[in-house]
Amino acid sequence: MTEETLVPYSGYFQRDVPAEDPELTHVGPGTACGEYLRRYWQPVAMSNEIKDLPVPVRILGEDLVIFRDQSGRLGLLHRHCAHRGASLEYGIIMDCGIKCCYHGWHFDIDGRLIDAPSEPIGSPVRDRVIQGAYPLHEHDGLVFAYMGPPELKPEFPIYDTMCLGTASKTFSLSMPANWLQAYENTQDPIHVIHLHALSSGVQFGAASGVEQLIDYRDTPLGMMNIQTRRVGEMLWTRTTDSIFPNGNQTGAIWEEAEGKKMFQRVSMLRWMVPIDNTNTLTIGWRYFSDQLDPRGQDDPSIVGKESIDFVGQTAGRSYEERQRQPGDYEVQVSQRPIAIHALEHRVTSDRGVTRLRRLLRERVRAHQSTGEAPLPRLNEAGQVATYCQDSVYPVAPATDDDQLMKKFGSRIADAVLASDRLQHEQRPAEIEKICQSEFS
Ligand code: FES
Ligand SMILES: [Fe+2]
Repeated sequence: MTEETLVPYSGYFQRDVPAEDPELTHVGPGTACGEYLRRYWQPVAMSNEIKDLPVPVRILGEDLVIFRDQSGRLGLLHRHCAHRGASLEYGIIMDCGIKCCYHGWHFDIDGRLIDAPSEPIGSPVRDRVIQGAYPLHEHDGLVFAYMGPPELKPEFPIYDTMCLGTASKTFSLSMPANWLQAYENTQDPIHVIHLHALSSGVQFGAASGVEQLIDYRDTPLGMMNIQTRRVGEMLWTRTTDSIFPNGNQTGAIWEEAEGKKMFQRVSMLRWMVPIDNTNTLTIGWRYFSDQLDPRGQDDPSIVGKESIDFVGQTAGRSYEERQRQPGDYEVQVSQRPIAIHALEHRVTSDRGVTRLRRLLRERVRAHQSTGEAPLPRLNEAGQVATYCQDSVYPVAPATDDDQLMKKFGSRIADAVLASDRLQHEQRPAEIEKICQSEFS
């Protein structure tokens, strides 16, 4: 805004809505961000959604159909039949693949045309036509697709938090807004105190409503924020990681920081998968344990399709309730279908969002110019070490408590990062060592 327009009642001067930032928000075929996202395995459905009928899905702006054939193999095909375009959501599931209902063309799960029944024997069509298809990988109730160039398909990554044996349920939530709004929200920890405590009443654990000191670090997977709170005699540091390009982990939703904890792992591993430019699927695992939920507030029975057991994540409340106690869904959707970055006034407290966009832009550009899409390195167990955790330790308040909290958060973050090559079970001891030697 100019000097002349920076005046009260300035609506007249602020009517222009510039274009969105296409480099980070457009995801269709051929876009910079869309091609970068396609280089990674993306969850596209929960296994329990795929029953005896084909399921239409839209991912990264592409209309697809997913099904399990009668031999139990999963297929993900372009939705419109290569013959004359009828949707394969009306297809007939076969022992091997799927048959289009219109003229009976029969495709295997990899798109090969097995039969075109009304064509003469010896017709070349079977060698000349192939239905678009993508490879799938099913893991613990989630179905992941690889939609990038076939010759560059990476190994399916196993994250350390997938291997802990913690009880879990899959969930899948859709939202009519751009994927980046959902993703960058996870590196905006300041909203926890505002949206989830002051504006709407405390929506997560009571301790999450305590003011936090916040810092940020890059990690080998992307970045993390470091939130440190004083809860009575305890210091509590949470690190929340972004697993680029679009994965995220979240600490215990109901954490109360009442007793000592070292490197407690996550209550969610999820991905913000673009359906298209203006719709997003947040899909992943929700984890349950007594340690993660000290007051018994979890409700696994309602976790699943368009439903999760904490407030404000879906459109499933009355408008009045959503106005009185808005949650993540309301703020992210209401930023516009695609938030206009050029209209924002980002400030010090937005530095997580700014950092995430910068890192993402660097990776999108690097991919565009060199074709590189970095893959995570593996720890000693062949897993991808991740960085989201909660640690709570008794530390008496100091005169300059902010300084102490800052140091505590920083040293926990150091240990979380430095222990990433170790076996998972060895990491809590590394953090405890720091607590004992520097904060006892
Ligand atoms: S449109 Fe599918 S077989 Fe003709
Ligand atoms: Fe939130």
